[in-house]
Amino acid sequence: MINKIKEEFNKHFPGTVYQSAGRINLIGEHTDYNGGFVFPGAIDKCITAEIKPNGLGKARVYSIDIDEYTEFGFEEADAPSQQWAKYIFGVCREIIKRDGKVEGFDAVFSGNVPLGAGLSSSAALESCFAFAMNDLFNNNKFAKMELAKIGQMTEHHYCGVNCGVMDQFASIFGKKDQLIRLDCRSMDYEYFPMKLEGYSLVLLDSRVKHELVDSPYNKRRESCERVAKKLGLETLRDATFEDLEKIKGEISAEDYMRAHFVIGEKQRVLDVCDALVKGDLATVGERMYQTHEGLSKEYEVSCEELDYLNDIAKECGVTGSRIMGGGFGGCTINLVKDDVRDKFVETAVGKFEEKYGHKPEVYDVILSEGAHKVE
Ligand code: GLA
Repeated sequence: MINKIKEEFNKHFPGTVYQSAGRINLIGEHTDYNGGFVFPGAIDKCITAEIKPNGLGKARVYSIDIDEYTEFGFEEADAPSQQWAKYIFGVCREIIKRDGKVEGFDAVFSGNVPLGAGLSSSAALESCFAFAMNDLFNNNKFAKMELAKIGQMTEHHYCGVNCGVMDQFASIFGKKDQLIRLDCRSMDYEYFPMKLEGYSLVLLDSRVKHELVDSPYNKRRESCERVAKKLGLETLRDATFEDLEKIKGEISAEDYMRAHFVIGEKQRVLDVCDALVKGDLATVGERMYQTHEGLSKEYEVSCEELDYLNDIAKECGVTGSRIMGGGFGGCTINLVKDDVRDKFVETAVGKFEEKYGHKPEVYDVILSEGAHKVE
């Protein structure tokens, strides 16, 4: 009897369900905070939340996957202690700071974006709640780009990561079967249908996440900012290899390498977009390998396991392969010809397990809708 009443209550007075996706990035890594280009898309792995206003002036939230419950108010001093809850709290605070409204709500959420895989599970969570708060309490007054920035600033102000806007942008703007090239300086973007006849994109998740002390992501960003400043530029977007050579003696060898990667990466994104339009997947693949090399040797955000996966891809004749996302673990993204795919996946999984004692996860990339209301 009691269960029946509970069930009927929930059936007649349900919350609203929202979803936002994880992302891939075909090319353009560590370029977003340098005012460069990125080329991401949202994937069919997402965070889903049911949310209902509660009239209590506070949030009551349950994470199914972590099996934790928390409550928090919306003042700065009310920050929750759980990392996962900080993403939601931060989004609420950033909305309030922009003169938006956040009222009390109850929420339950779950996701299938693998954690620590470089597929932006945190951006998916931020984007899901930013989209929901905008819809539930703000009459959708915030434009989608503002929602992406709300997620990005949540990372800066509540999670200690001075990230660019790519992940939140992709999570919100994603469309089925489309990649999106974003110019992170002008914030102009363009959708590109992903037509890969005879090829597919496969992710190999190393399932390693190297513990990072000293926030190496933020350190990479600081290197780039120092070089830009030395050149009298706002960001490295306008820097050329020639500019960099001129100041080589005045900057550290490390800063030089970081900037050298970023300047090269900017052009690689544009090359890949042109090549995709022409159906020239050989060039797309070549640039992907070059990006891996740069991320590994110059930007130094790869790791042994990911370099190993990249080597195996080369050996198997995979068209393009590289570490994806911020680095220090996570996935490689592989552009693979259909007739090579099965052999490659089998070889990579087998060899990796032999060497590291566990299998990498294999995900086929399916480009999907970004943030939206489900029902
Ligand atoms: C992380 C950040 C992004 C971007 C990538 C590297 O995913 O959140 O803003 O800088 O790393 O391209």
